[in-house]
Amino acid sequence: MASGPRIGVVGATGAVGTVTLELLADRGYDNVRAYASARSVGSRLPYGAEELVVEEATPEALGAGDLDLCLFSVGTSASLVLVPHASAGGAICIDKSSAYRLVDGYPLVVPEVNGARALEALERDRIVANPNCCTIPLTCVLKPLHDAAGLSRVHVATYQSASGAGAQRMERLRNEPQSEHNLAMDWSWEGDESDEESKLRAETRKILELPDLPVSATCVRVPVLVGHAEAVWAELEQPLSPGEATELLHEAPSVRVLELPEFPTPKDAAGGDEVLVGRIRRDRASANGLALFLASDNLRKGAALNAIQIAELLLSQRAVV
Ligand SMILES: NC(=O)c1ccc[n+]([C@@H]2O[C@H](COP(=O)([O-])OP(=O)(O)OC[C@H]3O[C@@H](n4cnc5c(N)ncnc54)[C@H](OP(=O)(O)O)[C@@H]3O)[C@@H](O)[C@H]2O)c1
Repeated sequence: MASGPRIGVVGATGAVGTVTLELLADRGYDNVRAYASARSVGSRLPYGAEELVVEEATPEALGAGDLDLCLFSVGTSASLVLVPHASAGGAICIDKSSAYRLVDGYPLVVPEVNGARALEALERDRIVANPNCCTIPLTCVLKPLHDAAGLSRVHVATYQSASGAGAQRMERLRNEPQSEHNLAMDWSWEGDESDEESKLRAETRKILELPDLPVSATCVRVPVLVGHAEAVWAELEQPLSPGEATELLHEAPSVRVLELPEFPTPKDAAGGDEVLVGRIRRDRASANGLALFLASDNLRKGAALNAIQIAELLLSQRAVV
């Protein structure tokens, strides 16, 4: 008989939802329901050795009061409609869209970086925002450097996989002839920046609680299925040698340091839980600067895993289990 928290995975048929189900099954949760749009109702999704039948994610279904936790990966407009109902029904809601990330009063959480902020959600409507898939690994790596030497400026160039744009984009890449593979900047433009670039800046500032931190990003989609990589140039207030930074990152939770001749790649990060970081070196163009390279699985630590870790933090506090 099912005994754990009653969990709704909303967007269960998508790229992130599929991985969410895999992770929940691996962790032994036995009271899970799958929700998606009306298009998917009745389809079956693997859940461990069993199957879940997809239900329609309606305000009534999610607001019925029979869920302790809802993990949302449905996109911003659907989240804006559905999350308030699940919250009103009493569920803890972890939302992976941009709907709540930058709204004052809603915690934006990477458990290793600012996990305590998540608890604030229990005092109000139990809604926590999960950051962008590039912001999560970036802050995991920047936080220990900031604590040691104070961040004064960050430049970042991203190499983001097709899965970051969802299941359909993965399918398109799988079916595309190799000769068609190319780089893309397939986000919306906000003047001369993409919204992905401005999100990376605003979310990093919010999570690190450095509202004025200069952050400049160039985001690029690459023809890789899973795993985002980032080249990062961090300027610090105090000198920090590459050796000291390496030691700090060895100690950082959820981070694994690779030393040359190894370096982080999306392929090595995919399927794993850690943020891989390497190429830690002096930035030759800056007095107190470090350059490094990171890679992580955007569907796991960049989305599904981070959300589950936030949820586990809150469930343990609320002791609904
Ligand atoms: N992919 C990533 O690496 C990543 C990382 C961090 C955050 N996110 C965020 O997570 C969300 C989902 O991303 P994804 O990559 O998993 O997208 P996806 O593969 O396109 O999946 C979208 C999911 O949302 C469902 N859906 C769409 N509209 C809906 C509606 N009106 N009502 C109920 N369900 C609806 C879809 O159901 P049907 O199958 O029935 O259409 C599907 O299950 C987005 O907000 C994205 O920004 C993604």
